[in-house]
Amino acid sequence: MIIVNSIKELQQATKNFKSSIGFVPTMGALHEGHLSLIQKARTENDKVIVSIFVNPTQFLEGEDLDKYPRKDEADKKICQLAGVDILFMPSIDMMYEKDELNITAPAIRGFILEGSKRAGHFDGVLQIVMKLLNIVSYNRPSKLRAYFGKKDAQQLSLITQMVKNYFLNVEIIPCDIVRDSNGLALSSRNVYLSKEERTKALSLSRSLKCASKLVMQNKLDSDTIIQEMQEVLREVEIEYIAIVNREFKQISNVIIGNTIILVACRVGDTRLIDNIWI
Ligand code: PAJ
Repeated sequence: MIIVNSIKELQQATKNFKSSIGFVPTMGALHEGHLSLIQKARTENDKVIVSIFVNPTQFLEGEDLDKYPRKDEADKKICQLAGVDILFMPSIDMMYEKDELNITAPAIRGFILEGSKRAGHFDGVLQIVMKLLNIVSYNRPSKLRAYFGKKDAQQLSLITQMVKNYFLNVEIIPCDIVRDSNGLALSSRNVYLSKEERTKALSLSRSLKCASKLVMQNKLDSDTIIQEMQEVLREVEIEYIAIVNREFKQISNVIIGNTIILVACRVGDTRLIDNIWI
């Protein structure tokens, strides 16, 4: 595995890659969720590139940018063992200039749910993902495959739209959510949870399991499902529960094969999100 810190080095290293590249952008503190994306990229491509960059522009004022977990050495080992070919770890100065042209998330998908709770967050995500995709797909003869988790469903949806709207030479590959044995969706932010909070955090996935059980019983009314979920989530602070179609429009009834049920909660000081695709 080669570790590169500059765009020039990265493009130099990939110059002779003749065949397919799978790209996994991350903010590091890698866990099994990230690893599943890397493994999928490994099986589907000849070469795999992972980036680790804690992107300042997607953190809002007062969010956890300064304390976001950084585990560079452990991450390098994980990537090495997973068979990554190139690990790209740029600096902030490498990625950003002082006064930049911005990308703004679209009104409907961009400003609801995460977009309304974290105004400006998706602009920062799209800005950095656009940069990363352009850097890695530069001069490639075939489409770059880029891997994103369904865990961040709205992010995945917006990035897919950006690739389409900006005619990028990239195929977005959605990847399933990885959970621990208790059902908690893996997240770099789980390290913030105390033991007690971790137990409370399990209610997020429990609420989604409850929702899917109702769907299996053919109880498809969104309000009813949300009420039942609220009951399961009574020990945490709910930010939102939403039932949307794949275009992120709120729907009053679950449509099998075209629904995402999402939940965002605060457990102590930690903000957690989870979802299920139906
Ligand atoms: P990060 O939170 O590090 O996540 C990197 C990728 O891993 C994302 O596509 C995310 O959806 C996926 N992921 C995280 N937890 C997962 C889980 N439990 N199961 C499956 N996939 C999971 O998302 C970001 O970084 C950033 O916003 C980024 C896209 C890198 C832009 O800065």
